[in-house]
Amino acid sequence: ATTLAGAAQEKGRYFGTAVAANRLSDSTYVGILNREFDSVTAENEMKIDALEPNQNQFVYTNADRIVNHAINQGKKVRGHTLAWHSQQPGWMQNMSGSTLRNAMLNHVTRVATYYRGKIHSWDVVNEAFADGSSGARRDSNLQRTGNDWIEAAFRAARAADPGAKLCYNDYNTDNWQHAKTQAVYRMVQDFKSRGVPIDCVGFQAHFNSGNPVPNNYHTTLQNFADLGVDVQITELDIEGSGTSQAEQYRGVTQACLAVARCTGITVWGIRDTDSWRASGTPLLFDGGGNKKAAYHAVLAALGGSSTNPP
Ligand code: G3I
Repeated sequence: ATTLAGAAQEKGRYFGTAVAANRLSDSTYVGILNREFDSVTAENEMKIDALEPNQNQFVYTNADRIVNHAINQGKKVRGHTLAWHSQQPGWMQNMSGSTLRNAMLNHVTRVATYYRGKIHSWDVVNEAFADGSSGARRDSNLQRTGNDWIEAAFRAARAADPGAKLCYNDYNTDNWQHAKTQAVYRMVQDFKSRGVPIDCVGFQAHFNSGNPVPNNYHTTLQNFADLGVDVQITELDIEGSGTSQAEQYRGVTQACLAVARCTGITVWGIRDTDSWRASGTPLLFDGGGNKKAAYHAVLAALGGSSTNPP
């Protein structure tokens, strides 16, 4: 195969990207999207503030542009994200207690119901654990509604869309030694032991020089998979350039392929100029849409073969 998606499919995986609705009018962008990727995640358009800007008034216009483009092109959709402490609309930010809990569950139910049958995997809960060495939950208005808010969100999502895989998604959970990784692991272990519906764990995988790809990445992915969940790399980007960046991308791809339950990789944008990292070059295509060394490394790791530009 000569594309990321084609090569990934031959390995039984998908290869996705984050998509921004306002770039769907950029023909270079859409050309790469349609050619190289078979899964999409809305970069911002399916977040709580975007979908429910006023309580109980749901606005699906921009999200639907992405979902419909994907479906028309035969691509899968990852849903991101039903419950999160960040990107909450103003009306939700100052809520607390049972009012907030019910508003959160209503959001999960309404959105997952609206998209029932169209979403391959949902990030049900995003970034609920604290950074650093505590291994604690992150403090947030949602956490203050009670420690069971995460499992309540998963149960609501399962009821609304029984066919979607339900994921917990977080960052800085790549290194097996880190307290945050261990804390998420224990939560998933607990959920599986008590029958809380969870199917997958998303590893965002935002890497940079201060947070490089760990040597034990494969161990982390395998240990989570051994709990009986799929693992997915959900928001991959790696700061840097040239050979060093390419080798790190190769390592991440190989780590996923080495774990049978690592079902796919999503990069967090297409060209460097599309990245949320305003001044960086963390993606697989340069600003002109040209394939970088990192692209060729990923394609080769997937078993594909590069075509030279004419
Ligand atoms: O659309 C508005 C625009 O109207 C306004 O003028 C402008 C002024 O700031 O803001 C624009 O919205 C921005 C939006 O991106 C679209 O560009 C927001 O301010 C900005 O905060 C938002 O950033 C997004 C960020 O999540 C928000 O949390 C990034 O694009 C997006 O890549 C990033 O993605 C997150 C994942 O969801 C979760 N994991 C980490 C990842 C990277 O931070």
